[in-house]
Amino acid sequence: MEIILAEHAGFCFGVNRAMDLALKIGKDKDGKVHTLGPLIHNPQAVKKLEEVDVRVESDIEKITEGTVIIRSHGVPPEILEQAEKQELEVVNATCPFVKTAQRNAKELMEEGYDVVISGDQDHPEVIAILGYTDNQAIIVQDESDFEKLDNLKKAGVVAQTTQSLERLQKLTAYLLKNVSELKVYNTICTTTGQRQREAARLSKKVDMMIVIGGYNSANTNRLAEICSESGVKTHHIERAEELNKDWFKNIKKVGITAGASTPNWIIKEVLKRMSEIKEKHEENLEENILTKG
Ligand code: F3S
Repeated sequence: MEIILAEHAGFCFGVNRAMDLALKIGKDKDGKVHTLGPLIHNPQAVKKLEEVDVRVESDIEKITEGTVIIRSHGVPPEILEQAEKQELEVVNATCPFVKTAQRNAKELMEEGYDVVISGDQDHPEVIAILGYTDNQAIIVQDESDFEKLDNLKKAGVVAQTTQSLERLQKLTAYLLKNVSELKVYNTICTTTGQRQREAARLSKKVDMMIVIGGYNSANTNRLAEICSESGVKTHHIERAEELNKDWFKNIKKVGITAGASTPNWIIKEVLKRMSEIKEKHEENLEENILTKG
């Protein structure tokens, strides 16, 4: 059995940076340290942070002292103002690419455009970008939201960094036909597209795909969808222990990929467990040959 790991799998630049920062602060600081919401959509990474006393709190008003770490998705500006009012020390780990999307949205609003965000309305990153437009932007998830765009004249578009290019293209094509002026910032992060393209390519070459990452991680779920869509048997797992040796019967090639929020140590555990399964299969195969011989 051949095991092929996608070249780009696991933590992206922004998540890696946020995790490193949080681990360092957890180890160095004496006072209380909180992240506002789980730093990463991965329960094992959250647990690792708890080990250095970095706790998760979802409501800024409940953090009464110490340091608050802003995660890579960013927050609306009023949350930063609130943290300042509460005299908290703020460590802003917003990914620089997300900050660009926030800045672009703010500029568009100031230039008088009707701001349109291509993204998921419940995603914290989108909620944060919305805040930079005084909560005036229109959020468009897919075609079913296009009716919200009627009557716009001058539209300015930004995208959630993990948005698919296809959705952004559909939105801009629609707007182009309906508005007299259109300005588009392509704020999609290349990491996402690169991982998705690689997952699609790899899943066409193997008999089975293993996708590693939090069940609550949107980008991991999307990778699993892409692999399934290419017709290959796909298993989405969070941890090595979930691997079932029966999955690997009659499998010659296995591809592995992992979401942008999946820590490297989990990928390593999965690879180790798969090598053990592989060895066991080869031993069984040899035994069968010897018995038959
Ligand atoms: Fe940043 Fe892109 Fe990751 S926007 S958080 S590097 S997916």
